[in-house]
Amino acid sequence: MQKLLDIISDIVSQGFAACGYDSKLGKCTHSNRPDLCEFQCNGSLAGAKLYKKAPMMIANEVAGALENNHAFEMVEAVNPGFINIRLSRAFLADYLTRMWNSETFGCEKDASPRTIVIDYGGPNVAKPLHVGHLRSAIIGECLKRLNRFYGNKVIGDVHLGDWGLQMGLIIEEVRDRQPSLPYFDSSYEGAYPSEAPFTIGELEEIYPTASAKAKADEAFAKRAHHATYLLQNNHRGYRALWQHILNVSIADLKRNYEKLNVTFDVWKKESDAQPYIPAMIQDMKDKGLAYESQGALVIDVKEETDTKEIPPCILMKSDGAVLYPTTDLATLVEREKLFHPDRVLYVVDKRQEMHFTQVFRAARKSGIVRDETQLSFLGFGTMNGKDGKPFKTREGGVMRLERLIEDINKAVYEKSLESSHMDASDDREKACRIIGLAALKYGDLSNQASKDYVFDLDRFSSFDGNTGPYILYNIVRIKTILAKFAESGHVLPGDQSISAPQSAGAKNLCLILSQFNECMDQAYAEDAPHRICGYVYELANAFNGFYNETKILAEPDQDKMFGYIRLISMVKDVLLCAINILGFEAPDRM
Ligand code: ARG
Repeated sequence: MQKLLDIISDIVSQGFAACGYDSKLGKCTHSNRPDLCEFQCNGSLAGAKLYKKAPMMIANEVAGALENNHAFEMVEAVNPGFINIRLSRAFLADYLTRMWNSETFGCEKDASPRTIVIDYGGPNVAKPLHVGHLRSAIIGECLKRLNRFYGNKVIGDVHLGDWGLQMGLIIEEVRDRQPSLPYFDSSYEGAYPSEAPFTIGELEEIYPTASAKAKADEAFAKRAHHATYLLQNNHRGYRALWQHILNVSIADLKRNYEKLNVTFDVWKKESDAQPYIPAMIQDMKDKGLAYESQGALVIDVKEETDTKEIPPCILMKSDGAVLYPTTDLATLVEREKLFHPDRVLYVVDKRQEMHFTQVFRAARKSGIVRDETQLSFLGFGTMNGKDGKPFKTREGGVMRLERLIEDINKAVYEKSLESSHMDASDDREKACRIIGLAALKYGDLSNQASKDYVFDLDRFSSFDGNTGPYILYNIVRIKTILAKFAESGHVLPGDQSISAPQSAGAKNLCLILSQFNECMDQAYAEDAPHRICGYVYELANAFNGFYNETKILAEPDQDKMFGYIRLISMVKDVLLCAINILGFEAPDRM
């Protein structure tokens, strides 16, 4: 559906043309003085220079030509030459009716849908999910839903980290603890046990122990490096042990992501890129791009226009081990083969920007991706504590995701005790999990992704202000009114039509509703979930204003009451659509 602002601009452009002026002057904007008008056009000011006339003269002529247009309730020329516009109520209602009857509430699917791989989540096996991975999961999930909403084919890939030094560290630590396991016996030829030699709890303790040990004990570190190399080169026993680490870890990760309402279409991992590495490197050598430097194999990626130094991308170390850029490049080879994507979008901590600059350039130079394939890096900022430092537990340790979720659910539970609408404790707990997730996700998504933000449990879980719970509170309020309406035996006549708004609050609510496609288009074009949050908050506020000034169910005029019910039903539908894209849902009560 054409955006309302564009429809208005078209009408005003025709007004300019009818008076003999360039129609381009008719571009309108939302008014920055809502007390005076809803839309405005400043084209007469530019026209004044073009036509050597007073701007006010042009504005008056055009306003006169538009005076009887059915779309407008008021068209007024004001000094020094603005055209102020207020929309006709019937016209606005008609627009909303069409919007409500469209599957995407007036958003238009992309005319040329693309295949998009989104690389997000990025957890490392055997390490617990911590808040650092939280942002990637939350933002990536939202962008996946948003891109799908616009009709694209989206493949969400978790891209597990399973191929780095952490694997060698774990292997060597397990060896030190259980040296008699067959994985370490090079003469063992039988089948390996199907049971893992550790639980997830043990695994999570093994990694930090091994990591600390490697820092203090050089011989251990060396062993870990070598084990990593052997693993990457198909050591049978290490492969079997690695498979156990993977299985145990993935089961745990899936459970955690489920709690976040985050899902992936493919569970690919760094190791899946390994088979593509030899041919890729050979090709880079053949093309004269990869060369040896101080024993390592590198590819230059600097460009003349660089303002800061972009070091060569290291593909292989002198001991033959491959590195992070190598697996990311080979993963692109695989993605090209499996999905032939038009775009690959990485949602990763912004501190990895240099890595992705190198990888993208190396991929282009060596022809791993097609020229038209878009490679994008959405680098997000750090989630900080109130002290401005990366978020930690109260004891100063790394905050695990599970614990964070527990904390937020508890905070929401306590706040909900102040609200009188929920009784049964089972219900309350279930609702609080839903609200807690909204608090967490909205708290994150409402900030521009690239910025750092402060995780403020108390603020995020508040039922007031620009928070997830506040948005849900308004949805629940609508649900409650609609339930009461149904209980009282009313049935709406079938059609989904919006009545012309009569009060200022109702009109404001309608105007905000009409901006849904405009805001979503912007969020889509900019990969910017915070724009959706901004819209949702504005809509919730507009509903709140309308609700406070309107007796809905007590309205004696039935037609009027039905009109209100339809309007708030539409508000609910639009809010639910938006929060679904944000990645959370609304409870029935709170
Ligand atoms: N596992 C990495 C980390 O924890 C993030 C992976 C991001 N994705 C990628 N294709 N490199 O830092």
